[in-house]
Amino acid sequence: MPLFRRPKRWLALVTGLALTSILLTACGENSPSILDPAGPIARSESGIFWTILIIAAVVFVGVEGMLIYSTIRFRARPDSPTPPQTHGNTTVEVIWTVIPAIVLLIVLGVTIRGIFDVSTKPEGKTIEVTAYGHQWWWEFYYPEYKMTTADSLVIPPNTNVHVKLYSNNVIHSFWVPQLTGKTDVIPGHDNEKWFSSDKAGVTYEGICAEYCGTQHANMRFNVVVTKDNNEYLSWAQKQQQAAAVPTPGSLEAKGEEIFKNQCTTCHGIVGVSDETPYLKDPNPMGQCDDPTKDNGCLIGPNLTHFGSRNLIAGGVLKNNIEACQPGGDLSNCNLAKWISNPQGVKPGNDMAVNVSSEDLPALIAYLESLK
Ligand code: CUA
Repeated sequence: MPLFRRPKRWLALVTGLALTSILLTACGENSPSILDPAGPIARSESGIFWTILIIAAVVFVGVEGMLIYSTIRFRARPDSPTPPQTHGNTTVEVIWTVIPAIVLLIVLGVTIRGIFDVSTKPEGKTIEVTAYGHQWWWEFYYPEYKMTTADSLVIPPNTNVHVKLYSNNVIHSFWVPQLTGKTDVIPGHDNEKWFSSDKAGVTYEGICAEYCGTQHANMRFNVVVTKDNNEYLSWAQKQQQAAAVPTPGSLEAKGEEIFKNQCTTCHGIVGVSDETPYLKDPNPMGQCDDPTKDNGCLIGPNLTHFGSRNLIAGGVLKNNIEACQPGGDLSNCNLAKWISNPQGVKPGNDMAVNVSSEDLPALIAYLESLK
């Protein structure tokens, strides 16, 4: 009897699988990978992955190899006699019980060590951040500085970042593949985590990893690591200040008026609109604590320093300021695309605004000037 009855079919299957895997590798293009860790927590997590992968590969190759070898070597032949029948073999049974038990104990040990690595408060300098999961964007509050930003989590290099995870709506999951694994952000249950970046002057991609509604896939953020601690401190000092005041009579000044008329129901700009809880309240995040109370919490991001951010609307677009210059052609300006058609860019989001095409350039100029 031939080993494979239909060699052509097998060939087709193997070729198909090989082509599929080549196709799937393309999915990794430009995606952050847990296998490219850039901090101690991510390294610990990818270490667990590699350990288990290597153990599993050895077991798989060993077991499948023996299976394939036995299938070929001892296959039935036309004149082969009935093989000897055995019932039970204590030595073999002890071996195949003890070896898997040892393998699983190693995996358990590595995993438990990883859990402690991830959940233990690390030694050394730590900054505090509260990450607030909204539908569908991330807000970051820095309690030490009493300031809020959105879409961009700015941190210094080689410094522990203690993140408290907070939601008053649905469950999200905070994930920065190259820095730290996923942790759920659950209403009524405040999780926390630590991570840090070894590299300076780089930007990592963050992702919401728990389905949280129609725009779950567009709930991204950046972790921007400054060049050094001084750059971080000067960034923080800038973020604490009220918004830049435009020159009277300028395009930006006209934009400020448009903002006051059209945007303040949802967005705050410190120093411009009245409803800016971000710097006034000792615990601004707390303002949104109780979803049953309407306590004047603004639903949109604080835009005080919008021009310093690199993403728009939960990462659905990049904040490409170079294409949004005052008086220039705005056809490639992402902020213009977003403001003129928010429901087309990100269907289902809360943004309902109607800015006329005459007003748009001024509003863009103003928002992008808020560095
Ligand atoms: Cu938030 Cu998915």
